[in-house]
Amino acid sequence: MESTHSMFIPYFGEDFYSNVYITVSVAILVIFGTLYFLKKFRTGVNNYFPNLSEKVIIVTGSTSGIGFETAKAFAQLGATVILANRASPKAVYAHQMIERINPKTITLELDCANLTSVRNFVQKFRKLELPLDILVNNAGTFTEEKKTRDSFEIHMGVNYLSTFLLTNELLPYIEKSRGRIINVSSSGHKSVTKPLTKTDFFLHKKEANEFENYCKSKFAVQLFTIELDQRLRERASHVIVAAVDPGFVQTPIFRDLFLWKIWANLNPLAKTAEEGAQTTIWAALHPSIQSGKYYSDCKEDKSNELATPEAARNWWKLTEDLLDDKVEVFPTKATSKEAN
Ligand SMILES: NC(=O)c1ccc[n+]([C@@H]2O[C@H](COP(=O)([O-])OP(=O)(O)OC[C@H]3O[C@@H](n4cnc5c(N)ncnc54)[C@H](OP(=O)(O)O)[C@@H]3O)[C@@H](O)[C@H]2O)c1
Repeated sequence: MESTHSMFIPYFGEDFYSNVYITVSVAILVIFGTLYFLKKFRTGVNNYFPNLSEKVIIVTGSTSGIGFETAKAFAQLGATVILANRASPKAVYAHQMIERINPKTITLELDCANLTSVRNFVQKFRKLELPLDILVNNAGTFTEEKKTRDSFEIHMGVNYLSTFLLTNELLPYIEKSRGRIINVSSSGHKSVTKPLTKTDFFLHKKEANEFENYCKSKFAVQLFTIELDQRLRERASHVIVAAVDPGFVQTPIFRDLFLWKIWANLNPLAKTAEEGAQTTIWAALHPSIQSGKYYSDCKEDKSNELATPEAARNWWKLTEDLLDDKVEVFPTKATSKEAN
């Protein structure tokens, strides 16, 4: 019989092809195996599990991903967990799942794209007459460009402004319990190379770069963390505020951005949601956490060099001016003296 491997394609014999097949398969296994172990090795894991049965914790954005895993971990340790979520079937399902672990679970509605909803959330929380030990500002979006209900650029509005307002409004409770605030940031904040200005609060063109604006909003969260820490220290407060980076995590956050969604699903280094929640849980609980710092993989990390105390103070003032008298912000020593 005439060979099908004609003059066009050289034929090297069966052994050669089976050897190539074996070599390629082994190479793929080795590469993926190495990446898998690299991820396992590098992913920080919380190993501190205090009894939280006397604690009340708010976790924003706990319908899925990192927030859901964070709330679940606190519920397992006995805390009263308040799930601060937009009303949706996902929110109902998350509540049911966490309530099964701990019947003390509460859901209060919160839409971070609407500052009135943030204020309403605080009203509803007040009515519960509960203390507040830990606030985890986890809710976040990475999506196509649009505006919030209050006409802010979506990432800046949801990821930063709601965090600023909610934290300031809840601070008296956290002060009272000498509690903690954890702001979920992102290593993406390090890609910001220019100081933020007032124009960054707004959407200028529909085709704006979502990733750039997402990173700016997380840089804003970094600045907020630094300035809030400065204000707390000036008042000799016992409250701790820290920012955390969960790493690259496979979650529904990428659902609106096709290429990112594919990358999150294919990237062998992407963490699971449970892995991604570790630094948040650890930072919320561990006694070694220092206020004003930035953590990733359950250890301290370097923030963007532009995130200086001066930049943070200016950014806070800009935010305050923007929100005007709509928010009673936590004063510095200097401003509270001015007010007297
Ligand atoms: N995944 C990553 O690789 C990664 C990396 C760095 C930082 N992060 C940060 O981690 C945090 C959690 O994200 P994730 O990855 O776990 O994604 P996720 O599963 O999509 O969780 C985001 C949560 O935020 C909520 N949320 C979004 N917009 C909201 C709004 N307007 N009002 C109230 N809640 C809102 C979502 O609620 P709905 O179900 O109602 O949408 C959801 O519960 C975010 O701050 C994100 O920026 C994630």
